[in-house]
Amino acid sequence: CERQDGRPFRQRLLVVANRLPVSAVRRGEDSWSLEISVGGLVSALLGVKEFEARWIGWAGVNVPDEIGQKALTKALAEKRCIPVFLDEEIVHQYYNGYCNNILWPLFHYLGLPQEDRLATTRSFQSQFAAYKKANQMFADVVNKHYEEGDVVWCHDYHLMFLPKCLKEYNSKMKVGWFLHTPFPSSEIHRTLPSRSELLHAVLAADLVGFHTYDYARHFVSACTRILGLEGTPEGVEDQGRLTRVAAFPIGIDSVRFIRALELPQVQDHIKELKERFKGRKVMLGVDRLDMIKGIPQKILAFEKFLEENAQWRDKVVLLQIAVPTRTDVPEYQKLTSQVHEIVGRINGRFGTLTAVPIHHLDRSLDFHALCALYAVTDVALVTSLRDGMNLVSYEYVACQDAKKGVLILSEFAGAAQSLGAGAILVNPWNVTEVAAAIAQALNMSSEEREKRHKHNFAHVTTHTAQEWAETFVSELNDTVVEAQLRTRQ
Ligand code: G6P
Repeated sequence: CERQDGRPFRQRLLVVANRLPVSAVRRGEDSWSLEISVGGLVSALLGVKEFEARWIGWAGVNVPDEIGQKALTKALAEKRCIPVFLDEEIVHQYYNGYCNNILWPLFHYLGLPQEDRLATTRSFQSQFAAYKKANQMFADVVNKHYEEGDVVWCHDYHLMFLPKCLKEYNSKMKVGWFLHTPFPSSEIHRTLPSRSELLHAVLAADLVGFHTYDYARHFVSACTRILGLEGTPEGVEDQGRLTRVAAFPIGIDSVRFIRALELPQVQDHIKELKERFKGRKVMLGVDRLDMIKGIPQKILAFEKFLEENAQWRDKVVLLQIAVPTRTDVPEYQKLTSQVHEIVGRINGRFGTLTAVPIHHLDRSLDFHALCALYAVTDVALVTSLRDGMNLVSYEYVACQDAKKGVLILSEFAGAAQSLGAGAILVNPWNVTEVAAAIAQALNMSSEEREKRHKHNFAHVTTHTAQEWAETFVSELNDTVVEAQLRTRQ
């Protein structure tokens, strides 16, 4: 079953990401219960009929025994997932260490860890070794399951070494790599001790993708300035071999959100929330509890707004959902205490016997409760200090077609490039500016809200996750075909 260009109709796609889209809980020696988490990537790929996706990644749990590993592998196979088993030490060094303590902050312009420099240098070396080892373990699993004609799509900063490992196994494998975070300016990237090795490893891919044109441009400059390679309008050239580099902005499955709003359970939530916050305007923040999300800055801006606008004090409330994440990393633990301290102080300062200005929740919400919150709130505050794209802003817009709420959006989120015309853009570091944006949003006329929403809603409903995935994979197929033609000439 082939098309004219020789590709099968249902091409197999091996999606490789650090984390599988499941949460696995062990119920017995050889039994597991699994729950699929429908994040951006999963819904993107579920909607694409053209290829048949299989997932390869870490199940997020330590399974030291063979019986447990076999049982989990079997259970995952039913969900088209293939596990990579990482032991505790590797997870500590590779995931908590190199990925979350070094690459993540650096790519978001927060710099390298600055504590004891000697200790950092020592742990840096062992963490980088663990990073390479983990990437090789992912490559081994991919290679074991690879069949000719498959497309391999590697995701994110956890797996920058993977394209190189895969091409060493099989230079004909079609390999794409996509970064979901920003790629920083080359001046930031060059501070990383393993800067060149990582760039070379990524360049082994056939196609390298980013959310925005700026990130792609930064990557190409890093390759030209740090590696001395040639940047072309198409990508990066190394000894006659071209790695295509381009921007592919992700979207969401907007239909899933819009449809959910009609469900009775979501309508019930909406009714409850309206009753609960009657007579008050509600502002919403939904973030992983991560330093890049700018949660303390957002809350301080809200405090400034309350300070300067006494008439709003008992008429507005901020609901901040802060989903705990990477809780083994000390920086994240510090952030949690910092946020609690600020929230407590502001609620003490502006709260009354019957109401507090900030409702802060340290947990995630289920999909239906989240859709209801998106739908009833008057303003969303997305104030990331840096963010690859930020899909919360997209989800909010998708759920606001009735209310036409206002989106306040950081200019440092990738989404600012697509939703900038409809949102109020802010510099999240400037607390005074964000406080003024809150006042502007709360006082905005319904005509202006409607105009701004219309622009963003059109974008969110036409630039979907499915379209993103299709475009990337079809470009990857074309890139490989073009490269073959070039070598034949
Ligand atoms: C970001 C990254 C993803 C990651 C997610 C959750 O969005 O780009 O690759 O999966 O955060 O983080 P975690 O460390 O829990 O997987």
